[in-house]
Amino acid sequence: MKIGIAFIGGGVMGEAMINGILERKLASPGDITVSDVDPERLNGLSQKYGVRVSKDNRAAVQQTDVVVLAVKPQTLDEVMADLSGQLKQQLLLSIVAGASLSFLCEGFSHRQVVRAMPNAAARIGEGITLWMATKQVGKRQRAWACSILAALGKEICIEEEKFIDMATAVSGSGPAYILLVIEAIIDAAVHIGLPRTLAEEMTLQTVLGTARLVKVTGKHPAELRNAVTSPGGTTAEALLQLERGGLRALFGQAIVAAHEKAKSLQGPRLK
Ligand SMILES: NC(=O)c1ccc[n+]([C@@H]2O[C@H](COP(=O)([O-])OP(=O)(O)OC[C@H]3O[C@@H](n4cnc5c(N)ncnc54)[C@H](OP(=O)(O)O)[C@@H]3O)[C@@H](O)[C@H]2O)c1
Repeated sequence: MKIGIAFIGGGVMGEAMINGILERKLASPGDITVSDVDPERLNGLSQKYGVRVSKDNRAAVQQTDVVVLAVKPQTLDEVMADLSGQLKQQLLLSIVAGASLSFLCEGFSHRQVVRAMPNAAARIGEGITLWMATKQVGKRQRAWACSILAALGKEICIEEEKFIDMATAVSGSGPAYILLVIEAIIDAAVHIGLPRTLAEEMTLQTVLGTARLVKVTGKHPAELRNAVTSPGGTTAEALLQLERGGLRALFGQAIVAAHEKAKSLQGPRLK
């Protein structure tokens, strides 16, 4: 594909994207420019990946095809003020949580915008990203967005922007929920006497294997769960405790709360 890509923000997600893009050879290091306020960060990225670096957002976006916006929502206003009116024919690809397409278009005075919601597993190419483009994004630019996001794992293009806020609550924040569950199971395993290293290995393989089991068989999770729940057995005993504690309802409440929070980020400022 060989395109020039500028990253505004070379933090955790910016680096994950650079790594994925280089691994898939979508661009060479010399085609990537990273702009960040942290000189140490820039130094590290330049040494690790051989990418070009800049402390100047305006200079970084010159003569590029795609500008990836990977700053925290709190710094978006500052970047917008800096880059408003600076983008020409580039595709602006934003992964900033809560920043709607209309807000980005208005703030950057630009129409060719993609809004995406990846997740932390993008760091190892196992992420899931939902994305949506404005109607001004051309076929070639869509293909660029698709390839860049596919370098992070699975990507799904959607037509309704409301799904992005839902993705923020489900898959964007999702790794944190699963990590908490993993941590809780490991701690419980240690509590009943298993050595921690063994507990960790058993728990991780159980989570990985179970996700793959659902995927490979295509069966409903309840069907697979019923198959391993013998009447009067140990699994039934544990599941009763989890239901008693309200685990299922808690997940419902947590995801509803995260969704409300994601929508509220758009509030008066990000409308
Ligand atoms: N992390 C995730 O799992 C995840 C998942 C989905 C979406 N996202 C979205 O991805 C975006 C980036 O997240 P992240 O975790 O990569 O954040 P991060 O690690 O904090 O990276 C942001 C980078 O931007 C730099 N920066 C701050 N102000 C800047 C400016 N004016 N110009 C250029 N660079 C600037 C920051 O420097 P300083 O640290 O010195 O301020 C930092 O290096 C966020 O909007 C988040 O909503 C993240």
